[in-house]
Amino acid sequence: MPFLRSTPPLGRRLASALFLLCFSLLLAQAQSANIARDNKPGKAGRERVSLTDGWKFSRFVSDPDSLSYHTTLKSWILPSANDFINGTKYKRPSGTPPGSKVKYVQISFDDNAWESVTLPHDWAIKGPFNAPGISGGMGRLPTNGVGWYRRKVTFSEADKGKSVFLDVDGAMSFAAVWLNGNLVGGWPYGYNSFRLDLTPYLKTGSDNLLAIRVENSHENSRWYPGAGIYRNVWLVKTSPTHVGQYGTYITTSDLSDKSATVRLVVDVQNDGTAAQNIEVDTEIREFNAATGQPGPHVVASFKQAKVNVAPGQKQPVSSSTKVASPQLWGPAPEQMPNMYIAITTLSVNSKVVDTYETPFGIRTITIDADKGVFVNGKPVRVYGSCNHHDHGSLGAAFNTRAAERQLEMLQEMGSNSIRTSHNPPAPELLDLADRLGMLVLDEIFDTWTYAKVADDFHTIFHDWSEADLRNFVRRDRNHPSIMAWSYGNELIEQNPNEPGFGQGSVLFRDMLRAEDPTRLSTIAMNYAWPGTPMADAVDIIGLNYQGEGQGLDTNGAFDPFHAAYPRKAIWSSESASALSTRGTYIFPVAAGNNAIVGGADAGGNDTALRVSAYELYAPAWGSSPDKVFEAQDRHGFVAGEFVWTGWDYLGEPTPYDAARSSYFGIIDLAGFKKDRFFLYQARWSPETKGAHLLPHWTWPGREGLVTPVHVFSSGDEAELFVNGKSAGRKTRGQYEYRFRWDDVLYQPGNVSVAVYKGGKEWGRDVKRTVGNAKKLDISADRTTIRGDGYDLSFITVAVVDGNGDIVPEAANAIDFSISGPGEIVSTDNGDPADMTPFPSLTRNAFSGLALAIVRSTKGADGNITVTASSNGLTKANVMIRAN
Ligand SMILES: *[C@@H]1O[C@H](CO)[C@@H](O)[C@H](O)[C@H]1NC(C)=O
Ligand SMILES: *[C@@H]1O[C@H](CO)[C@@H](O)[C@H](O)[C@H]1NC(C)=O
Ligand SMILES: *[C@@H]1O[C@H](CO)[C@@H](O)[C@H](O)[C@H]1NC(C)=O
Ligand SMILES: *[C@@H]1O[C@H](CO)[C@@H](O)[C@H](O)[C@H]1NC(C)=O
Repeated sequence: MPFLRSTPPLGRRLASALFLLCFSLLLAQAQSANIARDNKPGKAGRERVSLTDGWKFSRFVSDPDSLSYHTTLKSWILPSANDFINGTKYKRPSGTPPGSKVKYVQISFDDNAWESVTLPHDWAIKGPFNAPGISGGMGRLPTNGVGWYRRKVTFSEADKGKSVFLDVDGAMSFAAVWLNGNLVGGWPYGYNSFRLDLTPYLKTGSDNLLAIRVENSHENSRWYPGAGIYRNVWLVKTSPTHVGQYGTYITTSDLSDKSATVRLVVDVQNDGTAAQNIEVDTEIREFNAATGQPGPHVVASFKQAKVNVAPGQKQPVSSSTKVASPQLWGPAPEQMPNMYIAITTLSVNSKVVDTYETPFGIRTITIDADKGVFVNGKPVRVYGSCNHHDHGSLGAAFNTRAAERQLEMLQEMGSNSIRTSHNPPAPELLDLADRLGMLVLDEIFDTWTYAKVADDFHTIFHDWSEADLRNFVRRDRNHPSIMAWSYGNELIEQNPNEPGFGQGSVLFRDMLRAEDPTRLSTIAMNYAWPGTPMADAVDIIGLNYQGEGQGLDTNGAFDPFHAAYPRKAIWSSESASALSTRGTYIFPVAAGNNAIVGGADAGGNDTALRVSAYELYAPAWGSSPDKVFEAQDRHGFVAGEFVWTGWDYLGEPTPYDAARSSYFGIIDLAGFKKDRFFLYQARWSPETKGAHLLPHWTWPGREGLVTPVHVFSSGDEAELFVNGKSAGRKTRGQYEYRFRWDDVLYQPGNVSVAVYKGGKEWGRDVKRTVGNAKKLDISADRTTIRGDGYDLSFITVAVVDGNGDIVPEAANAIDFSISGPGEIVSTDNGDPADMTPFPSLTRNAFSGLALAIVRSTKGADGNITVTASSNGLTKANVMIRAN
């Protein structure tokens, strides 16, 4: 969401509009199947062990060790040690590395009193809310402090002579790692993945102590960042001769029905003490991304390469081959996300020393200035959303099922794209996008040299930006789902009045082109204008809100940009920022199709901190969905949009700073659909039949009062009935995206709609006046889950009347209980202002609904029963099988 500036950037022809912007605009918000599956256990020469279990953890609110990155650790863990920056290899300062005397890194330290945790772990999500010194913008949860994680790791004698690496997919933030009291290294940017070489410090045949320290200030993010080791951690053991980190790069070209060219670069690394003659072989098989299994047949292979690699060196080996009758990867639903896998083996004297797998897809993506995105030559309009990285009440701790549910619901709405605002995602998210057929705009930075908040990325930009950028691309570039790179969001460097204006625009673009010549790159810009260095530099013009005529240019910035850059594609990298609270309707309803929240007449000033769900409201920089659709439809050359946001997220509770999570989502924080879901579905999935009517129809006290009725549907004609009597038939005209009857007088009974398309019935909906709450309804999104201590079932409870209709404003307190091999990890209801801690087993329903998230116990084989009860209501239970 938007970042508020205090000094206005002044554009030449757009100065006055810019002025408006400066108070409202800078939007910021934010967001890998094992790309290279680095690698599965059991493959010759390589072992990849999950280190998720067995950790001890302690959080310290004040500094326990004087090891802060900026004051102490920085010079010891600079990125040039990690091989991502060209030039002289980094050398450590002389002397004893910091921390070696700190008790938490000693194997002898007694950590029994520390909390036992499983990774991925987010120490802040349990709350309580209103953590001292943490803003509403950051979600009011206790993310600040120093966290220490400790774990014993045993290496057997068989590990002697191996290279052993620690791969951390993400730790928030300023991670530093010690093994047996030795500082190994670290990585400050909490969203990037990193590898450290443990080999010099490990002891075989005995216990080793791995200690990881992270630290977070009170002000390190504009949204909820999470805290701790919130992604997976792996131990990778290889022969000294092995495929390097992110050591394969696959590209595809010359596609036809008959064949496709596949190019491969393999980085062969020799960490041994003698030169090696190495044979490099790679075969390609089909890949079942759902099971992770390669197919039975080799569909192509690369000619064997022989390479001599000197000790301590890495050497790239390039080759190409053809795949016959390629099964292409493309976005769902129009195309199929078919995948392949390249299986690379390194051998010395015909003995396999390493095996490395790289899932990939065969596809081409082109992005045209006039016609938009093409995948495999077929046009794909970008129906996308921006999303931050959290999973609502589960926090930032990555969970594959939670992420899958997020993507599945977006796809159900007809969405084909996501933007990982504003940071590299978990590697598994990209695996999911590959598997489900979702295009990705993969984004890395929210800030460069200027601060948006005191302690954000700008504090490490100078030292780390290049390493972060190269690492990010090398990690992600084999994913077929990634259609473009974004290297910035609403950067202050857009502004020519800031010193250093535009620096980085060309530098990073060229770095991206060097790391991956197959994709275009962009920056999400919210007050750029044609002719400025940043707009000149980017390959794709990414506009946040400017196109719809908000902010910069009230006529919309699409035409001036298109005229100035006739060869660059344009898309709305961020659109709408529409606001609503699920199930809440506030009267009167705005007359037009776009209203700025700011007063009761706009539905946006409510003491309960709610925004009306007529889906007409936005903050000053944003627009209703309808207004965005019109702007897109009036500019056919625009490639599409990424809505701010698909899902609600923690933090940035615009327009009510007193709340703790956002109002922007099309789907609320609990995963319940707002009315807006159906407005987008009607546009993005026009072949989906149906009709969605709002508001609910239980309004004691509104008898005889104007109560507008709106209907979202892809039909072209609709008739409304109030208690069976027609309230008029309407045709939807050009630039109209909803049916609306704004003068309906409420009377109890029912309101229903019949929608037609081309004269044929297309869908119906009805809302009835409901009676008193009588009972609870319960349902699970999945009634069979894996008993792995990780899989989830999402349980929805509805408060219903005697007919089974949801009681629309029910707020009954619901008590959850569970028996069997599982636990309730969190509860939620989608209300951004609910300050009950997420682990609470009692949750008030909100607009009639509540959610409980159940996780299986590790090793579970049996039935889990979840019961919901509430005073005066018939209780309900649901059974989930875990095995
Ligand atoms: C830096 O390294 C990258 C990746 O190895 C390479 O593509 C690029 O050309 C190098 N840049 C310079 C300036 O040497
Ligand atoms: C609500 O109304 C008050 C008083 O009119 C105003 O000061 C405040 O800014 C409004 N808040 C929102 C979120 O519209
Ligand atoms: C709506 O009300 C009318 C008039 O009372 C009635 O005939 C009809 O059955 C009702 N429809 C529904 C779905 O309840
Ligand atoms: C779980 O429930 C199913 C269906 O009621 C039943 O068939 C099965 O025996 C139960 N399993 C266990 C382990 O209780």
